[in-house]
Amino acid sequence: MKKIAPSLLSADFSNLERDIKMVESAGAHLLHIDVMDRHFVPNITMGPVVVKAIRKVASIPLDVHLMIENPGDYVDAFVDAGADYVTIHVEAAPHLHRVLQKIRARGVKTGVSLNPHTPLSSIEEVLDDLDLILIMSVNPGFGGQGFITNTLNKLRRLKKMLVAHNADHIEVEVDGGIKLDNIKEVSDAGTDIFVSGSGIFGVKDPVNEIKEMLSILG
Ligand code: DX5
Ligand code: ZN
Repeated sequence: MKKIAPSLLSADFSNLERDIKMVESAGAHLLHIDVMDRHFVPNITMGPVVVKAIRKVASIPLDVHLMIENPGDYVDAFVDAGADYVTIHVEAAPHLHRVLQKIRARGVKTGVSLNPHTPLSSIEEVLDDLDLILIMSVNPGFGGQGFITNTLNKLRRLKKMLVAHNADHIEVEVDGGIKLDNIKEVSDAGTDIFVSGSGIFGVKDPVNEIKEMLSILG
């Protein structure tokens, strides 16, 4: 099933509840929450306290994208705050397998994210431990950047890799630069979950934009 995950990074933080209800009413499936620590990426955003507040007002699952160093140290805090998916970066986790086990033991979905330059082979040995693979189509750290077109090629190779390993049940998510005008080609390359921040919150009528995206995805 194709799913839309609006990235709250581009929402109005002084009206988060309003924006959450707005995207939910339009049919969004997940809320994408970008956690940044100024070490793994050059920006700082929100922590478990904010995720907990979002959980109180949201009715759809929370897709927490950890762009932080030492992600294993924060798994419990984000699960306790209400995360339904916890995604960590392969580049930030030398003991990737251990951290994925920790997430799975907490009963939430495990995700791993790859920066644009990170090869697919870096996750080949942990496919059994994954519910989600998040392919970055921008360098993480900021909303509003342009989609890196080589991502389409990477997505097609990922699909083949998953089929070859009988791991096609793993959801494939793409993050960065997704908008109404490129969502079709990103979908055709094998994407299940579409993160969009500025492509949704940065337009005049976000509700209509989500509905149009959904109709393109069928
Ligand atoms: C970037 C974040 C993204 C970001 C996407 O580091 O991981 O989730 O919010 O924003 P857009 O859709 O504007 O590229
Ligand atoms: Zn993200």
